[in-house]
Amino acid sequence: MKKIYFDYAATTPVDPRVEKAMLPFFSKKFGNTMSLHSFGQDAKLALEQSRETVADLIGAKANEIIFTSSATESNNLALKGSAFKASTELSRTSMPKSHYAGHIIISSIEHHCVVEAAKWLSRGFEVTKIPVDKYGTVNPKDIEREIRPETILVSIIHGSNEIGTIQNISEIGKICRQKKVCFHTDASQSFGKILIDVKKMNIDLLTASSHKIYGPKGVGLLYVREGIKLVPLLHGGGQENGLRSSTVNVAAIVGFAKACEIYKKGAKSENQRLIRLRDKLIKEILKIKGSRLNGHPKNRLPNNVNVRFDFVEGESLVIHLDLHGVACSTGSACSSATLEPSHVLLATGLRHEEAHGSLRITLGRWTTEKDINYLLNVLPKVVGKIREISPFKN
Ligand SMILES: Cc1ncc(COP(=O)(O)O)c(C=O)c1O
Repeated sequence: MKKIYFDYAATTPVDPRVEKAMLPFFSKKFGNTMSLHSFGQDAKLALEQSRETVADLIGAKANEIIFTSSATESNNLALKGSAFKASTELSRTSMPKSHYAGHIIISSIEHHCVVEAAKWLSRGFEVTKIPVDKYGTVNPKDIEREIRPETILVSIIHGSNEIGTIQNISEIGKICRQKKVCFHTDASQSFGKILIDVKKMNIDLLTASSHKIYGPKGVGLLYVREGIKLVPLLHGGGQENGLRSSTVNVAAIVGFAKACEIYKKGAKSENQRLIRLRDKLIKEILKIKGSRLNGHPKNRLPNNVNVRFDFVEGESLVIHLDLHGVACSTGSACSSATLEPSHVLLATGLRHEEAHGSLRITLGRWTTEKDINYLLNVLPKVVGKIREISPFKN
C-alpha cells in the first residue's frame, strides 16, 4: 500500500540536497569551530557562512543569529533568558522589590514549550495569557492594554502549529516597540513558509526550527536583535556569542542553511502551489456533512488544514486513515499522544467533544494533486464509517 504523508507540521523529511550538503561535515570536515587549526577553521567558515544564509532569509544580520538545538530550546532561551536578565537588573537597582520580578505576556494558543516555560517562570514572574477569537486570532489591542511598566516580554506565536492561524505580528511588534517591551515570536511553523522580515515586523526575538523546513532535526535558531540582552541557559565554552555554550553542531547547521537556501529560491511558486492544494482540500472536505474548518479561513499557513467532524473522534480518524496509508494528526504532534483536548482548540471556544473531533492535515514539498484526490476519496468513507458506530450520532 502506498503511504501518503500529511503531517508536515510535525516534521518534514530531509531534502536530498540538504543531506548532500551535510555529509562532508560528518567525516571530512568534522572540526571543532573553536580549534585554531585548519580543521577547526574549515568548520568555523561553514558555520559563519550558514549564519549569513539563515540571517538573510529574515532580513537579520549574521551576528544576530544564535544556533540552538531546537525551537523548544530557542523558546526557553527567549523566555527564561529575558526573565533572568530582568531579574538580575532588578536585583542591582534600589527599586523596592515587588512580589514578582516582572510581567510576561503570552497568548492562549502558544506551543507547549512556551506555555510550560511561562508556567515554570510563573513562580517568580507574573504571566498574562491573551485570549483569541473563534479563528484563533489575537487582537493586538488586547496586548497593548495588558502592557505595564513591569512587562519585560511579549511572546506571541506567528503561525499556529495546530490551526494554522497567522497573527498580525507587525502590529504587535509595533506596539511593543512603542512601549519599549521586548517582543518574541515563535515562528517555527511560519519560517520557511511565509516571508519574514524581522526589521520591518519589529521583532526582537524570533524562534525557528530546521526540521520543519526539510532540514535535519536537532537544530534551531534564535534571532536576537542587536542590543537585546539575554542570560544564557547553558554556561561553558562561550560559543554562539556566549548565549549557547557547547560544541557547535556544524553538520546540522549547514543542513539548516541549505534548507533555507532551497526555500528562498522557490518560495513564491511553492507557496502558491500549497495554497491552491490547501484551498481545494478545504473546499472539498467542507462538503462532508457535519464538517467545519478550525482556524482562520484566509489568514492561515499555506500548508495547514484543520477540520472537525460531528460525532467523530480525531484519534479514531487518524488510526482509520493510517490503515488507508494516510498519515495525519489530531492536534499538534507533541500533544497528540495525550488524551487531553488541545488547549488551542479550546481557546477558540470549541467544546471538548468538538476539539476531540478535529483533524490536522498539513501539506508539504512532496504533496501532489494525486495525494489530495486520494485523501478526498478516502476521508468521507472513513468519517461515515466512524459515525455509523458513534454512540452520539442520535
Ligand atoms: C510552533 C512550534 N513551536 C515549537 C515547536 C518545537 O519545535 P522543536 O521540535 O524544534 O523543539 C514546534 C514543533 O512542533 C512548533 O510547531
